Amino acid sequence: MEMPEVIVPNPHLLQSDHLLKYILETSVHPREPQILKELRDTTVAVDTRSPIALDPHSGQLVGMLLKMLNPKRTLEIGVYTGYSLLATALSTPPDAKITAIDPKAEWYGVGLPFIKKAGVEHKIDFIHSIALPVLDDLLLLQGGNEGSFDFAFVDADKNNYGNYHERLMKLVKIGGVIVYDNVLWGGTVASPDGDGVPDHMKEIMAMAIEFNRRIAGDDRVEICVAPVGDGLTICRRIS
Ligand SMILES: C[S@@+](CC[C@H](N)C(=O)[O-])C[C@H]1O[C@@H](n2cnc3c(N)ncnc32)[C@H](O)[C@@H]1O
Repeated sequence: MEMPEVIVPNPHLLQSDHLLKYILETSVHPREPQILKELRDTTVAVDTRSPIALDPHSGQLVGMLLKMLNPKRTLEIGVYTGYSLLATALSTPPDAKITAIDPKAEWYGVGLPFIKKAGVEHKIDFIHSIALPVLDDLLLLQGGNEGSFDFAFVDADKNNYGNYHERLMKLVKIGGVIVYDNVLWGGTVASPDGDGVPDHMKEIMAMAIEFNRRIAGDDRVEICVAPVGDGLTICRRIS
């Protein structure tokens, strides 16, 4: 009997270890800002679980996108110790403002010294909360925020990606960009019947498949699924 291919949980989708090593060694790690490397090393030292911070290859892509967009106002959903937040702060103009949301302030505390050392703390408004009520508050209570963000990065709470998308389609301006992380969930999305997928990955696999289906059919955005890191969907709002 032919056995199903076992999908190994792997934060990088590139299944050729040699090629991944080549890319990281030639083009990613030598170019990673020293302060981001210090934060990455500290994060690994203080949190021994499997890595959940944005990987440096994805950080490089997001950083370059930001430099091309030159955003004045950005949103970050899911901060953890702040790798993607610091990458954002380093890649935006000096007067940019980043609204960063996470219910776990203790992890943000790990990253804050690095953010201060980089001299970019003034850009960040950290909101200690789950994201959905904050987005609703920005839209409903505070008013005036529709179309006021140039960029958003979403890396938390996968079951709410669809809900975040609907709010972000109002908060991010036409022409603005939203990036969603983990959309390929270790490659499991290509095995929707679950063959070879570890049980603990199946719930988010199903959510990622549903989110990807929805975004692919959303004609309010242009999209590109970049198979970098754990899969990044780059959406540009066009209407
Ligand atoms: C994958 S980590 C984010 C990694 C981060 N982007 C980085 O580069 O280090 C996910 C984070 O989302 C946060 N989180 C979980 N549920 C959330 C929610 N409902 N709203 C906002 N953040 C949430 C967790 O506390 C965790 O810090």
